[in-house]
Amino acid sequence: MFTKKDNILHIDGVSVTELKKEYGTPLYIYSVNDIKDRISELKKDFLNKYENTTVSYAAKAFICKSLLDIIAKEGLNLDVVSSGELYIALASGFDPKKIEFNGNNKLYEEIDMAVKNGVGKIIVDGSGEVEMIERACKKYSTKTNVLFRITPGVDTKTHKYIQTAMVDSKFGFNLIDVLEEVKKLKNDPFINFIGYHYHLGSQLFDNTVYLKATDIAIDLIEKTKDLTGSYIKELNIGGGFGINYTDEKRKPYSYFLDPVMEKLKGHFADNTPSVTIEPGRSIVGEAGSTLYTVGNIKDIKGIRKYVALDGGMTDNIRPALYGAKYTALVANKTDEDSIETVTLCGKCCESGDILIKDIKLPQIESEDLILIKSTGAYGFSMSSNYNSLRRPAVVFTENSNHYLAVKRQDYKDLAF
Ligand code: LLP
Repeated sequence: MFTKKDNILHIDGVSVTELKKEYGTPLYIYSVNDIKDRISELKKDFLNKYENTTVSYAAKAFICKSLLDIIAKEGLNLDVVSSGELYIALASGFDPKKIEFNGNNKLYEEIDMAVKNGVGKIIVDGSGEVEMIERACKKYSTKTNVLFRITPGVDTKTHKYIQTAMVDSKFGFNLIDVLEEVKKLKNDPFINFIGYHYHLGSQLFDNTVYLKATDIAIDLIEKTKDLTGSYIKELNIGGGFGINYTDEKRKPYSYFLDPVMEKLKGHFADNTPSVTIEPGRSIVGEAGSTLYTVGNIKDIKGIRKYVALDGGMTDNIRPALYGAKYTALVANKTDEDSIETVTLCGKCCESGDILIKDIKLPQIESEDLILIKSTGAYGFSMSSNYNSLRRPAVVFTENSNHYLAVKRQDYKDLAF
């Protein structure tokens, strides 16, 4: 996706100076070529390799109609976690049957919207939701497929803010309580219990956590069979596959999924449940980057050189929130050697608004273009209007073409 020509960075064959001229900065740029490559890898390593498998793209990583068009055309399902995400999906014409609804505290109005629009599955995250689903199904005279989200109690050793499967977690049911819930649903006229769901955490690089969780799931599935007399139809093992930001070594999907599939097939043979995964970051994370223009440069002699960008924590909260590390390049000086160490800071009134601390780059001047890589997941989707900065535009590139996916917010959107 990245190439250099005449000292200028190109993405999918499109010059970033051209993008700056047409759309301004800060600008989120997504390589559609890269997104499609990731989806091809998922097809090769999972969907086409194993029968009865589904990929549900986790919309929370990044959602907009142009992306959903690609997800739908590529035949993936969609995981949404709020009525807002569901609204965008329905507005983009996404097939509701291919949508699953997650979330640790669904409101009745959200469940009503999901049931009314016929979403394929609801992932139940608390006992109160069961009653709400029954109420909505009764209202619309329908029956909904549900999975129960469980906490397998696996420690993923990732940042504690993005661990989700520990016993001490706001997500899901523990392994004992969930069986009580399943028991209650026997012969329920409105709820069709089809299986279990878990999500271990995010930005993971070790397949042993997926394997530990598989063992726990197998045990639970057997206990469920003893209780209900039949095997579950579906097991959803969440997302979490790690990507490259700085010096990580991204692993292929097969590294995580082959051993899980072997274990499940080895145990259940013909009774193997259908397996769903919910990747978000690994599909869009590296495909997205953010382009900024340099403004003030402050060289505090012997201490630090601050290079201020025209965006910051408002378009990428991850460094401030998780201490996340990124890499960058001077996009209009791709042939120049890196000679000085600088700190790239944002323009928010907040000392913690540092995007990259101490990075070696070519000599930087005001008006240079900085591109921060791998901002495609949880950048735009966690953006804010702090300091009343406008949310940047999003542009998609593919095969030397570009098009606007989300327009830059207007000042009038801020004057509420
Ligand atoms: N499924 C469920 C139920 C999830 O909770 C998540 C992410 C995913 C799938 C997708 O996980 P992924 O493949 O993207 O790792 N804001 C944090 C990440 C929070 C992830 C929350 N759940 C960050 O910027 O690192």
